[in-house]
Amino acid sequence: MEQRFEAPDWQTYRMDMRSPHRQLEPLEREREVVAEALRELAGRGILHAATYDEGAFLRFREAVAASFEIPWTAITPRMQRLIWAINAIRRPKRMLAAGVFCGNTFICNAGAAVGPGAVYSAEDLVGVEIVPEEAARAERNVRMLDPTGTARIVAADAVAFAAEYGHPIDLLYLDADGAGGRGKGVYLDIVEAAWDRLPKGAIVLAHNSVNLADTLRYYLEFVRDPRNMAASLNCAVDGEGLEVSLK
Ligand SMILES: C[S@@+](CC[C@H](N)C(=O)[O-])C[C@H]1O[C@@H](n2cnc3c(N)ncnc32)[C@H](O)[C@@H]1O
Repeated sequence: MEQRFEAPDWQTYRMDMRSPHRQLEPLEREREVVAEALRELAGRGILHAATYDEGAFLRFREAVAASFEIPWTAITPRMQRLIWAINAIRRPKRMLAAGVFCGNTFICNAGAAVGPGAVYSAEDLVGVEIVPEEAARAERNVRMLDPTGTARIVAADAVAFAAEYGHPIDLLYLDADGAGGRGKGVYLDIVEAAWDRLPKGAIVLAHNSVNLADTLRYYLEFVRDPRNMAASLNCAVDGEGLEVSLK
């Protein structure tokens, strides 16, 4: 069954996808909505804490705005903050992000461990993008923030990559829209391919859990089934949504 956190204004809070850095509301309001979502996640045991270093987050946000080439994105400022904060709290040593387009969603995750807003050290943070030109752009963007290579982009099918990745995955982020007309239903293929490498306590994030809930129904049924995941919460901080699941 769905468990949901909703910001009261999730249906009216909107962005222009071609102006990714435009502020949509007072910072205090953004901070409070995300804080409420984090408290809900902590209250359900999905996260062990609900607080994060806001100064580091704002340094990360500024660095992305100054250096990334982002043709469009559906990641709102609230979602950027929520994803970054989840990573800053959970601190995955190894993170896999599937379907990263120009790298913006990837760096929302990886930016907690690399670049000017880093709050911990990771071992391997991989973004997987199936379109080689987009993977190349994402890699260029990521190199602007992380010269070390801890955060890296691979041009590949995320289903095959997840199946072959040889290490435990502490956090899996899903945003691929499926090659060959499969659409976002591919999330289930990716989580199944990664399953044996997701240890107990791993976090799985799925973007578009609100606006594409119908396409994602088999995935959402899977993560909301207590036989598969210990807990799962649909965070409607905006109209796109993020399903946050704990294995
Ligand atoms: C819609 S975009 C994600 C954009 C992101 N939500 C944002 O707002 O910035 C989805 C990306 O997934 C990629 N993709 C689709 N199927 C994939 C797969 N099987 N493996 C890796 N990437 C995939 C697409 O090429 C596309 O760049």
